[in-house]
Amino acid sequence: MKEYFVKDINLADNGMKNINWAMSHMPVLALIRDRFRKEKPFSNLRIGACMHITKETAVLMLTLRDAGAEVFLSASNPLSTQDDVAAALAREGIHVYGWRGESEEDYFKMLDIVIGSEPKLVIDDGGDLIVRLHERNIDLAKMIIGGTEETTTGVIREKALEKEGKLVFPIIAVNNALTKRLMDNRYGTGQSTIQGILNAASVLIAGKNVVVVGYGYVGSGIAKRARGMGAKVIVVEADPIKALEAALDGYDVKTMSEAAEIGDIFVTATGDINVIRGEHIEKMKDGTILANSGHFNVEINIGDLEELSISKRRINEFVEEYTLKDGRKIYLLAEGRLVNLVAAGGHPSDVMDVSFALQALSIEYLLKNRNRLEKKVYDVPTEIDKEVAKLKLKAMGMKLEELTEEQKKYLRSYKI
Ligand code: ADE
Repeated sequence: MKEYFVKDINLADNGMKNINWAMSHMPVLALIRDRFRKEKPFSNLRIGACMHITKETAVLMLTLRDAGAEVFLSASNPLSTQDDVAAALAREGIHVYGWRGESEEDYFKMLDIVIGSEPKLVIDDGGDLIVRLHERNIDLAKMIIGGTEETTTGVIREKALEKEGKLVFPIIAVNNALTKRLMDNRYGTGQSTIQGILNAASVLIAGKNVVVVGYGYVGSGIAKRARGMGAKVIVVEADPIKALEAALDGYDVKTMSEAAEIGDIFVTATGDINVIRGEHIEKMKDGTILANSGHFNVEINIGDLEELSISKRRINEFVEEYTLKDGRKIYLLAEGRLVNLVAAGGHPSDVMDVSFALQALSIEYLLKNRNRLEKKVYDVPTEIDKEVAKLKLKAMGMKLEELTEEQKKYLRSYKI
């Protein structure tokens, strides 16, 4: 087996500078790394990960290495790898398999190398690793102690495996931790999505009609940031409670069909397929920009866009211009893949500090509780969630109020 497959190992010096930058903005993970270095909780264990290969992921991988693990990593998206970071990780002894722009076929070949390393713990972002283990490598899957999942889409897929009685090891849904949803899904994606759109298309956001499709944590974060920059935000949502929340947050709530006619910039964040499709594209204005922030490139129906177009050309690395039959132009960003990871570097390091502190503690929890956990998808234990929140607040220089004994007692009692 090759030790690593990266674009160019000579990029390692630069990659290390970026990793060091991330490290200095990830104080909570640094505390965990210090403890792991002493305790070596993963000694002689192999950990397999399928994650975006970014400078922040690198800090997590080095944390696991310092905790005694042998680490195998492949990319969770063919376009999100930071090649200099991958090179630095390879030089640091992480078995890393991925490069920016790899084909779909290579993406799965690299994932298969990680699976073939026979990991005992797995970390996934989107579910490809865990689903592939269950669909094609069940004997290896049965040897696995447990896994963690970073994102909403992956949790949905793994819960579906559980529901069908097919799951063969326990999973902790890191995505579902409150600290993760708050910092990463809402504030991280909110900021990095806008950053991706600006890097790709450098348009003025102020005064534009920005249509956010999906009002979960991610969509609400994008809406908040777009409004903060002066956009008129329209929300499209199928869930009545989320739609009501969007309305009360002050956004205009419309159907996709209505929004299609007035939007200047569309961002999808639903986790579902074909939320923007031919019937909507047909109604769009000349110059409309389409971007996606959901995990897979399935939210915008690119097949429909191609069919409605007479030609397409690349404007820059991240923008493709489609010319429709009547001459209107539609601009697709990042090939419909996650715009924040393709056209920007993903969430800021300070955000990933929380997500990856949760990852590190959850994977440790799986190992410590291996004899007790069932073949289910679990939420992150509340103690871990609260501990990470406390450490992050402390790192931000904020202090928590302490309740008096009298106040604590009052909150436990039915008497007033
Ligand atoms: N997901 C979103 N942002 C990310 C980042 N910076 N690194 C890894 N995964 C991410």
